[in-house]
Parts: sequence; C-alpha cells; structure tokens
Amino acid sequence: MAAIRIDGKAMAAEIREQLSREVEELKKKGINPTMALILVGDAEDSALYVRSKAKACEGVGGFAEVHHLGEDTTLEQLLELIDKLNKDDSVHGILVQLPLPHHLHPYEKKVMDAILPEKDIDAFHPMNIGNLVIGDECYWGVTAHACVKILEKLGVELKGKHAVVVGWSIEIGKPVTMMLFEKGCAVTLVHPESDFVPYTKQADIIITEVGKPRAITGEMIKPGAIVIDTGANWVEGKSVGDVDYDSAAEVAGYITPVPGGVGPMRIIMLIYNLVQAAKKKAGIS
Ligand code: GUN
Repeated sequence: MAAIRIDGKAMAAEIREQLSREVEELKKKGINPTMALILVGDAEDSALYVRSKAKACEGVGGFAEVHHLGEDTTLEQLLELIDKLNKDDSVHGILVQLPLPHHLHPYEKKVMDAILPEKDIDAFHPMNIGNLVIGDECYWGVTAHACVKILEKLGVELKGKHAVVVGWSIEIGKPVTMMLFEKGCAVTLVHPESDFVPYTKQADIIITEVGKPRAITGEMIKPGAIVIDTGANWVEGKSVGDVDYDSAAEVAGYITPVPGGVGPMRIIMLIYNLVQAAKKKAGIS
C-alpha cells in the first residue's frame, strides 16, 4: 500500500490563518508583531531567504524591517545594530541571516549569542536550547518544530512511539530529539555517519537530517512508519530529500515529499515564534 503524502503547504496555510487571527487580536491591543531581519553582504540566496521571511511575516499582518549591511561590515558594527534592536521595544524578534560573510565566520556564535533570548526567534541562543532540554518555556528551533507540528497535525498519538532521528545539528537533530522526548516518545538519535539502518528499521517515526540525496530507502523503513524528511540536497538544479521517496512511499504509512513537506512549514514556524514573542510582550501567554 502506498504511503499518504503529507502536504506541508496545506498544513502551513492552516497555521498561517491561525497566526493571522492572532496578529489581528494583537493589533487591537496596539501591538504590531515586528521582526528585524539582518542581512550582511550580497549573497543572493541569503537575500532571497530574507525576502521570503519578510513576506511570510507580512502575510500574517506583521511588520518586517530588513537591515541590509554591506559586505565589509565589522563585527563591532553588527553587534552595535543587534544591541540597538535588543533595546528597541517595538521589535519583537531579531534574526541574523546565516552564513555571514567570510571575515565574520569565526564570530557567528558570538553574533547569535548577542541576540536577547526573548527576541531570538531562530531559537539558536544557548538559553533557548538549554530551556528546551530542561523542559521550560522557550522558543523551539523552526525546522525541528516544523517536524513535530507535522506529526501533531497528522493526529497520531506520539506517546510511546519509537522515534529515530538520523541527524546531528543544533538546528534539527538535537532539538527534535528533545521535542519528541517532551511529547512522550522513546527517541533514538543516530548520527548520519553511523550505521543507522538497524535503528531506522525499528522506528515508528523517522526524522532525517542526513545531507545526502536519497540516502534512506524503502528497505530501511518499517512498514507503516511515518517518515519526515528535512533534507534539501541540490541535485542537477533540483531540491532532493534525504529519503528515496519512491521506494520509501511503498513501505511507509505517511511521508513528506521534498519539496512541499517540511520546507513550507519552516518559515511559518519562524512566524509562529514571532507571534509568541509579541504575545508575551502583550502579556498573553
Ligand atoms: N541560514 C540558513 N538557514 C537559516 C536559519 O534557519 N536561520 C538563520 N538565521 N540563517 C539561516
């Protein structure tokens, strides 16, 4: 039996509608959810990402201000801008688009750590990551949260399920492991460079962050499993997932396509964090 294809676009549209209603309510209270996007340098793909984040913010009725700094911006100038935005009460969320230009690479962590945790809508700050591990209130990283939101929207019981995360990063693999644990799953985190197949074969839920096109095939998956693919590998000008969709879809119960699965959910979860930040400001939890 073929798997059900998860429509990330439709799920994102539902969340967008909900967020638009919340923004409308916030505006009635005089709060206009505002996101400051910092783009340093002239990389075209970064500029494109920043534009789509601004558009998504405006799409729910929020306000996005883009601060485009020159390629030769110094660390001090960048930190000065972050400090100004941290202190600006009209700004609820701050995002510095990565990667930074080459001369600022060694300072990326310093830059991300300079954003106030309560304005850190990317959820990269150690305070947000630490609170996720503790199980306290915090922002959840957007790609990891997108995976969990998809599972919730499918309406499957997460408690007691065995989730296997083939991943590694602080943006996806590590946080999604903690999030699924919070939801009551037994979670196994396996590094993509380890022999992950014995684990994926047992999994009720598989989350992939492999970084290799079509690395996970149908025979590595338990029949009926839910497969969430965060991969976006460029192959001959096309975005290809970590999962070999055709063979996996013959075995899985549900599967996200690439593109059209996790991707559309990522940006909306960023806007979700922005709206949470603005609600907090308004004293609404
Ligand atoms: N560059 C690529 N992905 C991201 C992201 O999620 N956040 C930021 N700030 N930069 C990125």
